Amino acid sequence: MVKVGIVGGTGYTGVELLRLLAQHPQAEVVVITSRSEAGTRVDEMYPNLRGHYDNLSFTVPDTQTLAACDVVFFATPHGVAHALAGELLAAGTKVIDLSADFRLQDAEEWAKWYGQPHGAPELLGEAVYGLPEVNREQIKKARLIAVPGCYPTATQLGFLPLLEAGLADTSRLIADCKSGVSGAGRGAKVGSLFCEAGESMMAYSVKGHRHLPEISQGLRRAAGSDVGLTFVPHLTPMIRGIHSTLYATVVDKSVNLQELFEKRYANEPFVDVMPAGSHPETRSVRGANVCRIAVHRPQGGDLVVVLSVIDNLVKGASGQAVQNMNILFGLDERLGLSHAALLP
Ligand SMILES: NC(=O)c1ccc[n+]([C@@H]2O[C@H](COP(=O)([O-])OP(=O)(O)OC[C@H]3O[C@@H](n4cnc5c(N)ncnc54)[C@H](OP(=O)(O)O)[C@@H]3O)[C@@H](O)[C@H]2O)c1
Repeated sequence: MVKVGIVGGTGYTGVELLRLLAQHPQAEVVVITSRSEAGTRVDEMYPNLRGHYDNLSFTVPDTQTLAACDVVFFATPHGVAHALAGELLAAGTKVIDLSADFRLQDAEEWAKWYGQPHGAPELLGEAVYGLPEVNREQIKKARLIAVPGCYPTATQLGFLPLLEAGLADTSRLIADCKSGVSGAGRGAKVGSLFCEAGESMMAYSVKGHRHLPEISQGLRRAAGSDVGLTFVPHLTPMIRGIHSTLYATVVDKSVNLQELFEKRYANEPFVDVMPAGSHPETRSVRGANVCRIAVHRPQGGDLVVVLSVIDNLVKGASGQAVQNMNILFGLDERLGLSHAALLP
């Protein structure tokens, strides 16, 4: 049994980790932290977990207690893992961070986008970007994993086959992305109120969103050259889901894109390339650790449109984190993650 600790257990990604790990045959959650709910039983706060965590209560974060775990997930705002990861690693505990703390390899760039100095630049050299479809071999040997963000997961998985094959004009890539409101976390914010986010849709951070440097870093690696990316996120009135509509101009129209995508993801348990002509829906991945993709070339032109959907809390966060844990501990990558999506 892998002994698991979770820092930030009352947030949306924290409770999603609990939901997924409740069904995991090889993992047991032994520590779960919350400063605001210390002492509260997990199943009192989250009745969907009644019957799964009979003796588990939230505790304040304590490094010594966490260091007794085999792995600690950070489901916390940025900056928290910077402060605690070093001590846990020194104690021999593996760290899987769902925040952005170790996603960018460049500490200066991180500081620019997050408005504070990087808190643990000495750990960046060993941090592995936890996108299994790209870094599976490095994840197996890692001690510190940076789980990709939600927009970055859907966007990179959609663009990767085109870029790795050298087929796209990398100077002009466009990612037009929509997110559900749970992407902003559980904390009270005016923009997340029902009356503000319901029955409406808006773009935000058009001049530059924190996920832009993360996506660009991944696409640069795939293309082997600089990329010019325009990334426009939107808030939509749904609870879960990311829908990325991706545009790229192809330099060779003769390549069979359906075949290219199917071949790239043939051995990936959590990427589903849909039949030609499909339009994946966010509800088809709700609650499941799956990225569903369809590739189109409207009117046979040179502009390719890739549609990529995920559940932001599953393949976009906690599911991907558990997938990383499975790889890290030499378990079957699909353990605890093979259930189908909820529909309708
Ligand atoms: N929501 C998504 O769809 C999504 C997707 C991918 C990645 N992420 C990333 O995952 C992380 C968690 O997101 P979330 O949406 O679950 O956030 P959230 O709902 O706001 O929850 C944050 C959690 O962190 C705890 N926390 C806050 N400050 C802390 C501190 N200084 N020390 C220890 N614990 C602290 C909170 O509990 P207490 O305050 O009670 O301690 C709470 O349990 C964020 O970095 C986010 O960017 C989120």
